[in-house]
Amino acid sequence: MNAKSDNVVWHHATVTRARRAAMNGHRSGVVWFTGLSGAGKSTLAHAVEESLHRHGCRTFVFDGDNVRHGLCSDLGFSVADRTENIRRIGEMTKLFTEAGVIALTAFISPLRADRERVRQLVGDDFVEVYVKCPLAVCEARDVKGMYAKARQGLIKEFTGISSPYEEPERPELVVDTSVTELDAAVAQVVDLLAARGLVPA
Ligand SMILES: Nc1ncnc2c1ncn2[C@@H]1O[C@H](COP(=O)(O)OP(=O)(O)OP(=O)(O)O)[C@@H](O)[C@H]1O
Ligand SMILES: [Mg+2]
Repeated sequence: MNAKSDNVVWHHATVTRARRAAMNGHRSGVVWFTGLSGAGKSTLAHAVEESLHRHGCRTFVFDGDNVRHGLCSDLGFSVADRTENIRRIGEMTKLFTEAGVIALTAFISPLRADRERVRQLVGDDFVEVYVKCPLAVCEARDVKGMYAKARQGLIKEFTGISSPYEEPERPELVVDTSVTELDAAVAQVVDLLAARGLVPA
């Protein structure tokens, strides 16, 4: 039921998720990459997508900046806005799973409760990958020059510097990108998806 109206009724599709999975040759799900800025979420999510796509899987990457330019352009970086940002993305990824797609997300998503809410929403096919990397390494990489700005106080509420990052407690996979090469990290994610029956081995 819609929170604001009693007159919204779900219309059930006859082309079901199961039928889409049969046609696609793989199941759908959400692979949720979380970690500090510069940890390697975007790099890893896109590399995993490349691998899956080459094997004929239907995929889509939701990436932080792209979503914030459109769907969530009205939101900032306060706790309330970060929570709403993740809620909307969660709902989007859920729709993509209904559409038969493997949705990969690359958001810092620093708050455990926000990620847990998406996990509850998506259900069994939610795979949380903690892209772990020491803050010092992320800061040395400083891909976007944001850590330097955050240290100068030019960016408020920057995760890891002036805003918290809550590590996942029971992620399906942890990849430490300070010690794991990208190719090996991709293989770990793809192997996990195969082990969970999302994609063929
Ligand atoms: N094993 C690895 N996996 C992923 N990235 C790596 C790895 N080793 C080094 N890197 C480098 O780390 C950087 C990660 O940047 P990336 O933009 O992917 O981070 P991000 O987590 O998406 O950050 P943001 O939250 O700011 O978007 C890239 O320059 C990438 O080349
Ligand atoms: Mg990124």
